[in-house]
Amino acid sequence: MNIALIGSGGRENALCKKLKDSKNINRIFCIPGNAGTAKIATNLDINFLDFKLLLKNLKDYEIEMVIVGPEEPLVKGIVNFLEKNRIKVFGPNKYASQLEGSKAFMKSICKKYNIPTANFKVCNNKKDFNNSINKFKLPVVVKADGLAAGKGVVICKTKKRAFEISKQIFQGKFKSSKKVVLEEFLKGEEASYFLIVDKKSFINFGTAQDHKRVYEKEKGPNTGGMGAYSPAPIIDKKLEKKIITRIVKPTLQALKDKKQFYRGFLYVGLMIINKNPYLIEYNVRMGDPECQVILPRLKTDFFKIINYCLKNQLKKLKLIWEKNKCMTIVLCSKGYPGNYKKGGIIKFHRIKENKNLFIFHAGTKLNNENIYSAGGRVLNIVSKGQNFKQIRKKIIKLIKKINWKDGFYRKDIGWRVIDKL
Ligand code: AMP
Ligand code: GLY
Repeated sequence: MNIALIGSGGRENALCKKLKDSKNINRIFCIPGNAGTAKIATNLDINFLDFKLLLKNLKDYEIEMVIVGPEEPLVKGIVNFLEKNRIKVFGPNKYASQLEGSKAFMKSICKKYNIPTANFKVCNNKKDFNNSINKFKLPVVVKADGLAAGKGVVICKTKKRAFEISKQIFQGKFKSSKKVVLEEFLKGEEASYFLIVDKKSFINFGTAQDHKRVYEKEKGPNTGGMGAYSPAPIIDKKLEKKIITRIVKPTLQALKDKKQFYRGFLYVGLMIINKNPYLIEYNVRMGDPECQVILPRLKTDFFKIINYCLKNQLKKLKLIWEKNKCMTIVLCSKGYPGNYKKGGIIKFHRIKENKNLFIFHAGTKLNNENIYSAGGRVLNIVSKGQNFKQIRKKIIKLIKKINWKDGFYRKDIGWRVIDKL
């Protein structure tokens, strides 16, 4: 069977590599992919949000199955469209994707089903905001309701700032929505929990801890993620049980009660306070860079998992993981998450990859055999081993050999566990 993967980040390079390891796939296409996926699959440089154009290409290349990496096509209904056109597709449909696509939708489920989360108020306009803001202590969290590419959440220390940010959202700063969600600020430790879900059941898909802030010691603005490691010891068996009974099961039940269902990756973003989980957000996809540290540890054939999921047979699967630990450090363009330069050449002459030390590309482009930077997060250097300190040393040693003058990275990825594990 020919298969297509939608997306162009490090997550998609990791997914692509895992699919390549499966014997049951004929050709892999990456739409649009990056310089890393170009080495192992066929990149198709088309706009995947143009669903009709996408379908034409799927038919031309006899592609029977699609795996969707990022959230935007999911929220825009790619699954409904492809299924209607008899293409198998791994990912949640448009209704279920609202779990990420609308914070108001997600929060209303939390309220109705008693799912632990921060207290909140959805505001449709300035009047709603004025009536609600005094009910929140400072700092208060202001969120755009819809997708905002990770830029729609601001923790505000003053009411004035909360008002300014809300005003920008009401005025349409993010095209996806003009609603504001005000939220109580939760103080605890963040953790992420990953699942693969089908109509009948779900299966844990590993744990990872991301580092969202751009600078070391968790300083500076939020990014898509500057590095990650797996497994993440913060989620033990007891906590996992609470996450499933208090958060995951009631959410899936809420969809069922609407005669809907969930299928695909589900990323549960949590705040852990006094060993209790609070839902911060859902993502309807794998995390990036979490995917880059979870997949290399997976021993079970990934394509088999996808097929079991599409047949609603996940219950029959038991996933097998390597004992090895895994870490990635993201090499970014200077200036990210603000403005940055694109187009610099990256040279890898002195780099030797092996099964425990390798690179996933993110924002890169291949042109005449040369590799150029094409994004904010450009490369993920990944390593596996028994000890996070050793792993990180190997990664940093490799980064120093990459010849690219416009990059920077965090040297403290894994600081919570580096001296313990
Ligand atoms: P979100 O897009 O909702 O995941 O928010 C992005 C980031 O903002 C989260 O990863 C947290 O670091 C932070 N955040 C969001 N909501 C809250 C909250 N209610 N309390 C504290 N931090 C939050
Ligand atoms: N690393 C965070 C995310 O994928 O949303």
